[in-house]
Amino acid sequence: MQPTRRQLLTTASAALFFPLLPGCAQVDLREGADYTPTVGQPGKDVVWVPTPDAVVQRMLDLAEVKAGDRVVDLGSGDGKIAIAAAKRGARARGIEYNPDMVALARRNAREAGVQVDFAQGDIFQADFSDADVITLYLLPSLNEQLRPILLKMKPGTRVTSHQFRMGPWTPDRTDEVSGRDAHLWIVPASADGAWTLRAGDGASLQLQLRQQFQMLDGHALAGSQRVPLELASLRGRAIRFDVPGGTAGTLRFEGTVDGGRMSGTVGPLAGGPRVPFTGTRG
Ligand SMILES: C[S@@+](CC[C@H](N)C(=O)[O-])C[C@H]1O[C@@H](n2cnc3c(N)ncnc32)[C@H](O)[C@@H]1O
Repeated sequence: MQPTRRQLLTTASAALFFPLLPGCAQVDLREGADYTPTVGQPGKDVVWVPTPDAVVQRMLDLAEVKAGDRVVDLGSGDGKIAIAAAKRGARARGIEYNPDMVALARRNAREAGVQVDFAQGDIFQADFSDADVITLYLLPSLNEQLRPILLKMKPGTRVTSHQFRMGPWTPDRTDEVSGRDAHLWIVPASADGAWTLRAGDGASLQLQLRQQFQMLDGHALAGSQRVPLELASLRGRAIRFDVPGGTAGTLRFEGTVDGGRMSGTVGPLAGGPRVPFTGTRG
């Protein structure tokens, strides 16, 4: 859409007068107006190809994006994923290396009537550690490079990627949409290691957990006997596992992991009273 004569005059007036007003930044209303990107054009580490609308929506659905979530699209292109997140009420950001694409994305956000923070920068230098949701459409190799950075984010952070996976960190869920894949990962808490659990009734249990990404297994120690855990799972901070073979039958533990501490409730799988437990690692 071309700007009207009145818009151009308003822009010229703003450029003339806003520098005189303290605290007012100049805003170029025509930013990105003359730039038309080409699908497949080179980018710093990967070309620009936009994610189809249906896949964008499914990625945001998988990540359960809701109002107030901090969503960051890494390599934001024309801004469509971040703009769609902002339309759901998220506090959306995009990081994009190509300054022309940044200008275009800002213009697209203005036209969509949403507030999005598009910044020019390199995704491997940028700080996005406060995000609740990360969205990606990059390459398998770039996802793998990002993996250690993503795994250091707070447990429970949702990561969603169009098409490409993350090497040995298998997705928590994959949906197919119009022949494309939309993947979801939930950043797991660290639960690996030796734990001592104490229940409210004074009983204690030694536990050895082995973790690879969100995959968890391990055993409990009953005297010199190792009892393999059943149905162990870790989703963000939420942990669950069953310890079979006790006098009350199989015991189900459900709780949360927070650094070196674990807490929750434990009770017979068959039903009956559940009591609180706490755990310490090391
Ligand atoms: C495949 S496109 C995806 C665009 C958008 N996320 C989408 O799904 O519609 C990848 C984008 O990443 C940008 N890009 C490539 N390397 C980058 C880097 N190191 N830092 C920031 N952006 C980068 C490209 O310019 C391109 O716009």
